[in-house]
Amino acid sequence: MATIRDVAKRAGVSVATVSRVINKKGKTTKETEALVLKAIKDLSYTPNMMAQGLSNRRSTTIGLILPTITNPFFPEIARAVEDVARKNGYNVLLCNTDDKREKLLDYIHTLGSQYIGGIIISAHNMLKEDFQKLKQLNIPVVMMDRVLENKEFSTITVANREGGRMAAAHLLDVGCKRIAHIRGMVNEANAIKRMWGYRDIVGKLDWFDMSWICEAEFSVQSGYNAAKELFIRHSDIDGIFASNDLIAIGVLKAAYEWGKKVPEDIAIVGFDGIDMSGLTVPEITTIEQPIYRIGELAMLELIRQTKEVNKYTNQFELDVKLTLRESTMRSQSAEK
Ligand code: RIB
Repeated sequence: MATIRDVAKRAGVSVATVSRVINKKGKTTKETEALVLKAIKDLSYTPNMMAQGLSNRRSTTIGLILPTITNPFFPEIARAVEDVARKNGYNVLLCNTDDKREKLLDYIHTLGSQYIGGIIISAHNMLKEDFQKLKQLNIPVVMMDRVLENKEFSTITVANREGGRMAAAHLLDVGCKRIAHIRGMVNEANAIKRMWGYRDIVGKLDWFDMSWICEAEFSVQSGYNAAKELFIRHSDIDGIFASNDLIAIGVLKAAYEWGKKVPEDIAIVGFDGIDMSGLTVPEITTIEQPIYRIGELAMLELIRQTKEVNKYTNQFELDVKLTLRESTMRSQSAEK
């Protein structure tokens, strides 16, 4: 079987020139190109796909960098990415950063040296310099859910602020008079937007001050701790908007231990719409993100970029919706 060296020898050019013609990269004259193509034809040379992948720095394996795999939100996204990847002949390499920047940087470095086809990433703790590192890899990158707002990479997010508004407005609608918010991490953009949505609705009410907002991690334990803190701060609390469903599950547990009935004494709204939020007792009303669609769109966008010569990016913001469940279904008598 002919090799690239045989082609180079026959065409009377260097191996690098043959490689430039095959990969359509760098400058070659029309005459040289014709010589190389003729040699390829004469020798029935088939470029080695692996070697071609290396020189193009492209392959059909993509890296999926997630902030945590212990929160079901992200495995649900990963499933969608994998479904679309497999349908289109791609493989997915899963990288879990545990929300740690060092792990994130390590993965960016490792993936960059593996001649990967592209990266889908979700990370809230990335600095500008990390962003530059990603850019320097010179491969398609799509950011989803936790994104750095930019126009250089495609991004997929949801209407977080609107979701915060919907949650707070719904709690008012079902008769809550004192509504607290358990926000996610202070430096996480989605949590910040959801908090502003909540403040858009309750911020002007006479009882509101910042003591009605409590900070938490996106976890059950953290939600549980924050709820107990709020119960101590405000004995008249009768509604909580939790920045994600795991926090809301923690609130349910705290309410149970505190002897507060859900939804009669306290109504709860979560955010995300993970499967688990419909399995608790009572089931949790939530602001549902199109989780599967986020992963699906991220992978489709990455595939588009790997195929297109003229690269452009897209900024998608998907809608969220209120999914009404037992944790806010209060009877009229519960409304004060
Ligand atoms: O539950 C995980 C949370 O982190 C989600 O709300 C998602 O939007 C993310 O940023």
